[in-house]
Amino acid sequence: MSKLTAGDVPEHVAIIMDGNGRWANSRGLPRTMGHRKGVEAVREAVRTAGDVGIRYLTLFAFSSENWNRPEAEVSDLMGLLKAFIRRDLAELHGQNVRIRVIGDKKNLRGDILPLLLEAEETTRSNTGITLVIAFNYGSRDEMTRAMQALAVEVAQGRMTPEQITPEVISSRMDTAGIPDPDLILRTSGEERLSNFLLWQAAYSELLFVPELWPDFTREVFLAALEKYAGRERRFGGLSPRQTIAVGS
Ligand code: IPE
Ligand code: IPE
Ligand code: MG
Repeated sequence: MSKLTAGDVPEHVAIIMDGNGRWANSRGLPRTMGHRKGVEAVREAVRTAGDVGIRYLTLFAFSSENWNRPEAEVSDLMGLLKAFIRRDLAELHGQNVRIRVIGDKKNLRGDILPLLLEAEETTRSNTGITLVIAFNYGSRDEMTRAMQALAVEVAQGRMTPEQITPEVISSRMDTAGIPDPDLILRTSGEERLSNFLLWQAAYSELLFVPELWPDFTREVFLAALEKYAGRERRFGGLSPRQTIAVGS
């Protein structure tokens, strides 16, 4: 069992689920098998997050740049998301999970948008963990859409430029109402953000683990949370220990 105490548990964990392709390649399997196995890791991660008391879990499922992948892989990823919502929505709803989707909802293919909206609508009043699915999501795209919306408000005289504060900008992001992530975790050993939550990550702790996403078990997740619990967050100020030293 984990040594985590309630106060150590981050309110919001955001995960860049990376390494599905490498997981499959290393077994001589097609990349799609890695994505399939990755869905199982998603289920386990949501359960673990709920068990330890995380309130928001954001999962980077498909980036605005992932359209650059071969068409067959893009279709495969879209199909997996649809299958996940069709198969798991009832169970997630039963577990009191609230689903939010961030990313550009325009120009999605076929029946994906209605499914995403159904998942959000069905679970809207749930009070358990919020599962934020970042789909067709890219930070620069999100910020561009937010700036365009603000520019329209200013042009129409509904807001002055001086009224645009960091809080107002946050409220125009796809993540409006969701606290900034305390921890951003990336699997597979890559150490970059790949256009994920750039505005929201201002004071997030970053953690990069070597495990490939399909190997991201409950144990790996708990070990990462323990590392987070050992971090000292300062938000530009001084830690209590430093403050005592200054005062004495
Ligand atoms: C993450 O695994 C899944 C998505 C980006 C959708 P990758 O598909 O990026 O796997 P690697 O990085 O090629 O191993
Ligand atoms: C980031 O992973 C996107 C998702 C996990 C959905 P990528 O595999 O697309 O990122 P890069 O290309 O290695 O930066
Ligand atoms: Mg990758």
